[in-house]
Amino acid sequence: MKISVFGAGYVGLVTAACFAEVGHHVVCCDKDAMKIDSLRTGKVPFFEPGLSELVTSGVKGGRLEFTSDVAVATASARVAVLAVGTPSNDDGSTDLRQIHAAAREIRGHVQQPLTVLVKSTVPVGTNAMLSAIFAGKSVNVVSNPEFLREGSAVADGLKPDRIIVGARTNADRELIRELYEPFARNHEKLMFMTPESAELVKYGANSMLATRISFMNELAEYASRIGADIEDVRRGMGADPRIGSSYLYPGIGFGGSCFPKDLRSLEHQLLEHQIEPKIITSVIARNERQIELVVDAVLDAVKSQAKPVVVMWGVSFKPNTDDVREAPALKVAQRLLERGVQVRAADPIVTQAQIDAVLGKGRVSLIESEMKAAEGADVLVLVTEWRQYRSPDFEELRALMRGSTLIDGRNQWSRRQVNAAGFTYVGIGRS
Ligand SMILES: NC(=O)c1ccc[n+]([C@@H]2O[C@H](COP(=O)([O-])OP(=O)(O)OC[C@H]3O[C@@H](n4cnc5c(N)ncnc54)[C@H](O)[C@@H]3O)[C@@H](O)[C@H]2O)c1
Repeated sequence: MKISVFGAGYVGLVTAACFAEVGHHVVCCDKDAMKIDSLRTGKVPFFEPGLSELVTSGVKGGRLEFTSDVAVATASARVAVLAVGTPSNDDGSTDLRQIHAAAREIRGHVQQPLTVLVKSTVPVGTNAMLSAIFAGKSVNVVSNPEFLREGSAVADGLKPDRIIVGARTNADRELIRELYEPFARNHEKLMFMTPESAELVKYGANSMLATRISFMNELAEYASRIGADIEDVRRGMGADPRIGSSYLYPGIGFGGSCFPKDLRSLEHQLLEHQIEPKIITSVIARNERQIELVVDAVLDAVKSQAKPVVVMWGVSFKPNTDDVREAPALKVAQRLLERGVQVRAADPIVTQAQIDAVLGKGRVSLIESEMKAAEGADVLVLVTEWRQYRSPDFEELRALMRGSTLIDGRNQWSRRQVNAAGFTYVGIGRS
């Protein structure tokens, strides 16, 4: 099938590469000409495990092309996938300018029957609004929210656990079945519903996952006050099959390009319908509190230091990605800098330029080796649980650092080992 994908970001590029991998012919279009130039030379502009190989294979096989020309992308497509950004406005509502612009551009060029598949996360009612933009053309709009996780996006894209489709006509349902047939060979993954239900599945899923995290974080604060260890509590709770163990990990809080903005958007959507979003508002507030807790722990540990130095291990919002959108590390750093603390960082993938773009040039220095970054530091905060930070040589670390506090923002380390090396251990919810 001939497909065009609009947006070559984390979702668009992965989608384009996965569709090409199963034999569809894909033209991936981004208005960012530099991004397209870099993709044409075989360079993927961000880090996602396995993506570069998939893109190369698609390009070599002639199944994947790149353009910044909407006319070229629209020309022979049967399906156009919208995977452009939907960031937050200041009031928490969703900024739909990219999606509206992309729809209008496609409308200006489409000649043939086309189904527009909306993968971007959009508030309920957006698919209906987009249908209005295409009125008078033989274009149908179908909601198809995306659930891939950065860090394992290629695996998720090639083996989705479900494919949610909000379509109004049988013809669209059949077309989407054909499109996804290669991904659903061994069992049925397609779930058909109205566009409104499909749009809400995405917000419901992200909000539920975030709620589990915030709930555990709240319990963790209580655990730390009463002599309980949240890690034991987590294991005990997760063993209940009605609860399950995923997304029960307490820590420094969730970040990234999805959870924070999608929760704020759902909160805004409820308010627009005069529904008080009691749970969602609390989940967001709890997440902010996690940053405060870590900042307070750092400030407490350095209170007797005239010129405190803190090192953070991990800057990306989670391991296996270079995405720093809403990264807890940058929020912690910002608050520490405001309090006069010198901050250094280490991360396997994130670059100095990415940090500077958020915090300003020269504010936090990125040091390649995590051990070198710790030299002379008073406090080390483990912010992102990259695998290479799981089992450091604590004795060597103790010899390198000036101070003796390790803040384990992801509950990765053994208190016993950390204490044995002469450190004070501070975890999340571990008394
Ligand atoms: N990143 C994730 O993990 C994830 C997961 C599921 C859903 N989503 C949703 O998918 C959407 C895209 O997210 P992302 O992280 O890939 O964003 P992104 O910012 O990485 O990529 C968006 C891309 O769209 C391009 N673009 C904007 N307007 C365009 C236009 N008119 N024509 C062509 N290209 C255009 C931008 O240049 C950019 O490259 C968002 O709605 C997001 O909420 C993201």
